[in-house]
Amino acid sequence: MTDVAATALEAFRTELERLQRDAATVLAAAVDEAAIEAARIEFAGARSGRLKAAQKLLGGLDPAAKPEGGRLFNEAKAAVAALLEVAQERVGSAEESLPPVDVTLPGEILPRGHMHPITRTIRQVQEIMGRLGFESVDGPEVEDQWHNFEALAISPEHPARDPLDNFYLSVAQAADPLLLRSQTSTVQIRVMESREPPLRIVSLGRVYRPDTADATHYPMFHQVEGLLIEPGTTMAHLKSVLRLFASSFLGGDVHVRFRPSFFPFTEPSVEVDMEWGGRWVEMGGAGMVDPAVLAAVGYDPDVVTGFAFGLGVERIAARRYGVDDIRDFYRNDVRFLRQF
Ligand code: PHE
Repeated sequence: MTDVAATALEAFRTELERLQRDAATVLAAAVDEAAIEAARIEFAGARSGRLKAAQKLLGGLDPAAKPEGGRLFNEAKAAVAALLEVAQERVGSAEESLPPVDVTLPGEILPRGHMHPITRTIRQVQEIMGRLGFESVDGPEVEDQWHNFEALAISPEHPARDPLDNFYLSVAQAADPLLLRSQTSTVQIRVMESREPPLRIVSLGRVYRPDTADATHYPMFHQVEGLLIEPGTTMAHLKSVLRLFASSFLGGDVHVRFRPSFFPFTEPSVEVDMEWGGRWVEMGGAGMVDPAVLAAVGYDPDVVTGFAFGLGVERIAARRYGVDDIRDFYRNDVRFLRQF
C-alpha cells in the first residue's frame, strides 16, 4: 500500500470514529422520539446522513485499502444502529412508565362554578323584599284545582283552566286533576289559609305553561309573588313597594306604570310596566286582593284588605343583565353562564 493510500485510510478511520462519538453524544442527550428521529436522519439518513457521506469516501479509497475500509465502515454502521436502538428503548420505556408522584405538590384545583343567574336573581329579590319586611315562603309545584284556580276565583269555564294551557298530571281523575302550577298566586292561598293577617310574604318559584319556547317564553319559568295584607293598604302602597323593589334590584331610578287589566283574583287589576334606562318593559300583574279570594280563605272581606303582585323573574333578570333571549338561561352553555 502506498503512503498516500495509507494516509487516506487513516483519515477515513478518524472520520468514522468521530461519527460514532458524535452519534453517542447526541443519542445520550435524546429525551424523546422526535430527538431520536432527528439523530437517525443526521447519522443514518439514506440521502444525506453522515454514514452515507462516509460510504462515498470509501468508494474513493485505493483498491488495496478497500477491504480494511469496508470492515471499518460496516463496524461504524453497526455501532450507530446499536446506539439508535438503545436510545429508542430508553425513551420508549420512559414514556410508558408513570411519572413519579410528588406528594408535596399542591393538588389539582377543581373549578367551582357559581350560582346560576336565575338563582342569583331569586336570592337578590328575596333579600330586597326581606328588607321591606316580606318573609320568603315556598309552595308546591304540583297543585290542585282549588289552589291554582278556584280559591283565586278562576271559574271552571275560565280559559286559563283549558287543558291546552296547562300541564295536567291526572286527567283521568277529572274531578280534581292535579297540575303543574301555572302561577305562584297559589302560594297566596296557601299562606292565607294557614295564617291570620297581617301578612307580608314573597314567594319565588317555578311555574309551568305549555308555551312554545321563544325569546320571551319558555314552558317553565319563574315568578315572584308578593302579598301584603294590612289594614289601610292602597294601590299607592303597591306602587311604592314595586318601585322600591325595582330601584334596588336594577339600580338607579325606575318608574313604575300601571295599566288597567283584569285578573279574577284582584280588583282593581293592573299590568305592571317598568321603565329603566329609557325603555318600558312589561313585568307582570298586580292589584288589590279580590274580596272573593279573601272570603275563600276565611278572611272577612269587610275588614281585611291587601295587595298582590306577580312578576316574571326571567324578565327582570333579562332586563338587569341585558339578556335578549330567555332561552339562553336554560341552554346550559357555560360560555353564556360564565358571564354572570
Ligand atoms: N298570577 C298572575 C299571572 O301569572 C299575576 C298576578 C299575581 C296578578 C298577583 C295579580 C296579582 O299572570
